[in-house]
Amino acid sequence: MKLILENWRKYVNEQNDILDDSANLIIKAIRASSETGPSDDDDWGPYKFHEVAARLLDPNLSTEENTKELIQKLPPLAKNNITRVLGHGEQGLVFLLDNGHALKVYKGRGRIADDGSGEAKYYASEKAKLFDQTGSITTLPVYDQGEVTIGKSKIRYVEMARFLPLRTFLENTGRAPVTDRGGTHIGQLLIYLEKYAAMKLNPDSHAAKNKDPYQIASQIKHRAQESKITTVELEGLRGLVLNVYKQYGEEHLGDLHVDNVGVLEQSVATGKPVFVLFDP
Ligand SMILES: Nc1ncnc2c1ncn2[C@@H]1O[C@H](COP(=O)(O)OP(=O)(O)O)[C@@H](O)[C@H]1O
Ligand SMILES: [Mg+2]
Repeated sequence: MKLILENWRKYVNEQNDILDDSANLIIKAIRASSETGPSDDDDWGPYKFHEVAARLLDPNLSTEENTKELIQKLPPLAKNNITRVLGHGEQGLVFLLDNGHALKVYKGRGRIADDGSGEAKYYASEKAKLFDQTGSITTLPVYDQGEVTIGKSKIRYVEMARFLPLRTFLENTGRAPVTDRGGTHIGQLLIYLEKYAAMKLNPDSHAAKNKDPYQIASQIKHRAQESKITTVELEGLRGLVLNVYKQYGEEHLGDLHVDNVGVLEQSVATGKPVFVLFDP
């Protein structure tokens, strides 16, 4: 009996440690970010970590109260600890879990739908494909996703595989994005691939109408060369854009850029990287 009690106490302590570790990490990240002040008025983004957190959480609760609730309510955190921050965008905070997955908490932003339901549908549909075998190589591995209420604030979450953001992948391989008029070559390449997909799959759309296929093809070639990506990589990216366009339509490609595309880590060393869209 004594042993059982001792083990129970140890178990309870371990559970508390998990709660504390994850909570401390979030609170520290928010504090460190707020010490850097607010974004400039003319900052188009990305918003700072603490500003995104403030938009997600309940303004009537303290950071500690919000964080505690977040940890109690997010299902992926029932079994896993947060080990670090992976990044943040305009509307989401992304953490690394000790099971190796990425956990994103987010709200809507307005590109697909104000309340984030468009993204939630994408994540739900990608998750289903993992199990019903309709997935393809570019399917985003999503393990869990849903909605929770923190205080009075409704937020969404998704637990997915961890990727190397395309920007990091290119930087790590000596091909940091080079800026050109109208953005980076790789950014422009993604935009032309989207035009290419529109031309192939929806020739009557605004993106495809009155466009010269030869001009699109030559831009793709030029931008691919300038960003030093290989033919295999170009075809991987083309396949991703075509797949997303075919399955979800143009509106899910409205935010296509190097910080929203990922490379599956296991595929990095193979020379045939697998690309996914982790932020539709
Ligand atoms: N699955 C992931 N693996 C690794 N890093 C990620 C993952 N998802 C997001 N990130 C990082 O977090 C950042 C913000 O995530 P993102 O989904 O783009 O949020 P937002 O909708 O706010 O733009 C990304 O640019 C990337 O650096
Ligand atoms: Mg993003």
